Amino acid sequence: MNAIETQALVKEYAVKGSEPVRALRGVSMAVKSGEIYALLGPNGAGKTTLISILTTLLTPTHGQARVAGFDVVTETAAVRRQLGVTFQEIVIDGDLTGRQVLDFHGRLYGLDGRTRAGRIQALAELVELQDVLDRKTTTYSGGMKRRLELARGLLPAPKVLFLDEPTQGLDPQNRASIWRHICRLRAEQGLTLLLTTHYMEEAAALADRVGIIDHGQLLVEGAPSALIEAMGADVITLTGSGEVAAVLRCLEGAPGVSHCTHHQGEGNVRFQIGVDNGERRLAEVIGAVLTTEFRIQEVSVHRPTLADVFLAYTGEQLRDD
Ligand SMILES: Nc1ncnc2c1ncn2[C@@H]1O[C@H](COP(=O)(O)OP(=O)(O)O)[C@@H](O)[C@H]1O
Ligand SMILES: [Mg+2]
Repeated sequence: MNAIETQALVKEYAVKGSEPVRALRGVSMAVKSGEIYALLGPNGAGKTTLISILTTLLTPTHGQARVAGFDVVTETAAVRRQLGVTFQEIVIDGDLTGRQVLDFHGRLYGLDGRTRAGRIQALAELVELQDVLDRKTTTYSGGMKRRLELARGLLPAPKVLFLDEPTQGLDPQNRASIWRHICRLRAEQGLTLLLTTHYMEEAAALADRVGIIDHGQLLVEGAPSALIEAMGADVITLTGSGEVAAVLRCLEGAPGVSHCTHHQGEGNVRFQIGVDNGERRLAEVIGAVLTTEFRIQEVSVHRPTLADVFLAYTGEQLRDD
């Protein structure tokens, strides 16, 4: 069964005095129950918009979406009962202690006192905040606040959890700690998780499947390992200037070359060439390109990563920084 399903979702934001912004341009996707799905895309891609629709905070302009089987527009209340969500922008009242923040949230969901106390205890342990739970949240570090947000999202015991940029702005150590908690969540609770991130490494490590979204469109989906494998055993990156068509012609059907994509940079072109064996093919590829008028500036060989997949599909480089 699918925990999340969307069909041709379109979202247009009305903007006073100008054309509406098309934040989603027909997104169709499905996330299976128990799956961790990472939506990967640069700023402005439409990730927060998609999560906002799935959590019933925004209505789509066109298209349909269902969460846990319920329609996000016509069955809003039922959808809300199934989900937990943590937002990109953290909104925590600093005057409250961590425990008060969680307790207040539990009341909002109509949980009785005993249920609240039990869950708060368990969740505080899960996100390792038990020792600071009675401190005001103003004293919390960025990582602690994110973890409190995670606990808050989980408090209603959701079937589906949405995490919008759960590690944004955190240092690597804090990011790793959030990852650990997310992995534990899935192992211990088996819930469905849709997270957005612009960190490649995070998506590759955490997700069963990733979807790459850019300019409001889902460009490709798949298991990180499958997407990476499809890039070839090694990737030769070649930058330079000259006639693109001539390079493509000489590489087409060259032995060991599985595919070739290119993107126009500032004053140069960057080719990504998937090959069966980088060491062996490097000299052949350079030799072939040298038979054209193309001037090579830089060549490198590496094992493909999700960053290469992203570059191949979007033409953009995202860095884990
Ligand atoms: N309230 C809004 N009004 C107008 N445009 C918006 C609004 N919210 C987002 N957008 C635009 O919609 C696009 C997608 O934004 P968003 O969903 O926040 O992307 P992401 O979360 O991937 O960074 C961007 O071009 C953004 O500027
Ligand atoms: Mg966003």
